[in-house]
Amino acid sequence: MQLQIRQGFDPQWLDDALNLYCEAGLGQKDADQLRKALTRSYRVVTCWNGEELCGIGRLISDGVYYASIFDVAVHPAYQRQGIGRLLMNELEQAVPGLRVYLTATFGKEPFYEKLGYRRHRTALAKYPPPFETSPYLDPPARSTQEQG
Ligand SMILES: CC(C)(COP(=O)(O)OP(=O)(O)OC[C@H]1O[C@@H](n2cnc3c(N)ncnc32)[C@H](O)[C@@H]1OP(=O)(O)O)[C@@H](O)C(=O)NCCC(=O)NCCS
Repeated sequence: MQLQIRQGFDPQWLDDALNLYCEAGLGQKDADQLRKALTRSYRVVTCWNGEELCGIGRLISDGVYYASIFDVAVHPAYQRQGIGRLLMNELEQAVPGLRVYLTATFGKEPFYEKLGYRRHRTALAKYPPPFETSPYLDPPARSTQEQG
């Protein structure tokens, strides 16, 4: 197996990325939205076995203070062979010295912990409808008035 890491997004492999996200359990993404998200990302990293896309990840950043990593996925046939780590290393190398944020899918926290990520004590998120019922979010905090 000859694996190759590539940088950047090429619309020619958009369908491969859509399939990869599906196969990896991250859902059926909208093609136009994914194309925009990949185009606007600070870094996109992919892993190839010949012309087969077997891994992908992307990072958004201001390039100075902060960066966030999203949508890291390795095809199930290629998991647990070090590709996720390779992708993460490539993304991190694009933002030396910056604070990097991410959220894990359920059960994947140990993967990120192995790469040195730690729980953030005050991390919060606000999702618009219809995402506000996401199982990743705690129920809304009760305001002081409501508690009255
Ligand atoms: C999470 C994911 C990207 C990991 O990719 P991978 O290529 O399998 O990971 P690696 O082989 O590089 O693993 C690196 C280390 O993490 C460990 N690891 C990987 N997945 C793990 C898991 N689910 N639980 C515990 N440890 C895990 C590996 O054993 C390895 O440890 P080691 O260096 O001590 O041997 C991959 O499982 C995946 O695509 N999952 C589905 C999509 C997803 O949930 N993505 C995360 C979005 S936030």
